[in-house]
Amino acid sequence: MMKMLMIVLLLHGVCVLLLSAPTVSAVSLYVSPNHQQFFKGDRYVSLSCVDDGQTADGWTVKRTRGVSTEGCGAAADFRRVNNSFCVLDLSVSSGGSFWCENSSGQKSDEVSIAVSEKQLILEIPALPVNTGSNVTLLCKPRNGSAKKSYFFKDEVKLGDGPEGKLILHNVQQSDEGLYSCSTVIHQSPQSRLKVKEPPPPPPPHTTIMYTPSPSPSPSGNTEPSASSSLRPRSPSVSVLRLFCHLLVFCPYFISTILLLLICCSRK
Ligand SMILES: *[C@@H]1O[C@H](CO)[C@@H](O)[C@H](O)[C@H]1NC(C)=O
Ligand SMILES: *[C@@H]1O[C@H](CO)[C@@H](O)[C@H](O)[C@H]1NC(C)=O
Ligand SMILES: *[C@@H]1O[C@H](CO)[C@@H](O)[C@H](O)[C@H]1NC(C)=O
Ligand SMILES: *[C@@H]1O[C@H](CO)[C@@H](O)[C@H](O)[C@H]1NC(C)=O
Repeated sequence: MMKMLMIVLLLHGVCVLLLSAPTVSAVSLYVSPNHQQFFKGDRYVSLSCVDDGQTADGWTVKRTRGVSTEGCGAAADFRRVNNSFCVLDLSVSSGGSFWCENSSGQKSDEVSIAVSEKQLILEIPALPVNTGSNVTLLCKPRNGSAKKSYFFKDEVKLGDGPEGKLILHNVQQSDEGLYSCSTVIHQSPQSRLKVKEPPPPPPPHTTIMYTPSPSPSPSGNTEPSASSSLRPRSPSVSVLRLFCHLLVFCPYFISTILLLLICCSRK
C-alpha cells in the first residue's frame, strides 16, 4: 500500500518536471550581421524572428537593458522597419539582450549585443554555431587595420593571430565560453560563444503533387540522430504529456487512481 502511494507520488513528481520543462521552440532570433560586438557609430543590426528560414508570424523581437524590457519599436534606437524586421541603430544604441516572444509569452533563446565606445572589439558569431563547424574570431580595432592580437577563452590565453584572426576548427560543446581579445594596448569586451547540434538533415526531396506515399521516413539513415528526439509532437510524447496533464491538473483523476490501487492491493 505504501509502495503504491510512493509510486504514484513519484509519477506525479516526474510529470511535474516533464511539464515544466521548456518546450523546444523552433522560432529563433535572426541577427545580421551575425556579430555580438559592434562599435558605437557603426550603422545598424537587423533583427527578426524566423521559423525554419521564414518570418515567424505573431512573434516580436524584444530586448532588455538593465531592468527594462522593450518590444521592437519602443525606443528610438530599436526601430521597426516593417512587419518582419527591427533594427538596432548603432549610432546611438548601447545594446542589450534580445530574443523573440509571442503573445503567450513563449521565448526564443537570447542573444547579447554589446556596443562599445572603446577601441577594440571581437567579432564572434551572435547565433549559436553548429558543432563541427569552423568559427573565425576577428579582433578588430576601431580604426586602422587588424594587428597582432591575443585571444582569450574564459580569461585563459587561447592563442594569437598575427593578422588579428583566429580560427576555431571543428568546434565542440567544450568550446563554449566567454571570449575576448587584446592587442598590445587595447582589450575587447567579452562575449559568449554558444555551440549547438546541427539541425536534422532535411527530409528527402518530395514531389508536390499526387504522391499517395506516406511521409518520408529516415530509412537507411545509419547515424543516430540526436536531434530527432527533440522534434516536437511525436505521438508517444504527446500521449505522455496528456497523461501527465491529467495526473497533475486533475485531482479527481489522482484520487481515482489511488482508490483503484487501494482496491487492487486489498484483493
Ligand atoms: C523588410 O525590411 C528588410 C530590411 O530593410 C528587407 O530586407 C525586407 O525585404 C523587408 N520585408 C518586407 C516584407 O517588406
Ligand atoms: C506561442 O508559441 C507557442 C510555442 O510555439 C505556441 O504553442 C503558442 O500557441 C503560441 N501562442 C500564440 C498566441 O501564437
Ligand atoms: C575546417 O577547416 C579545416 C582545416 O582548414 C578544413 O579541412 C575543414 O574542411 C573545415 N570544415 C568546415 C566544416 O568548413
Ligand atoms: C582613431 O580613433 C580615435 C578615437 O576615436 C581618433 O581620435 C583618431 O583620430 C582615429 N584615427 C586614427 C588614425 O587614429
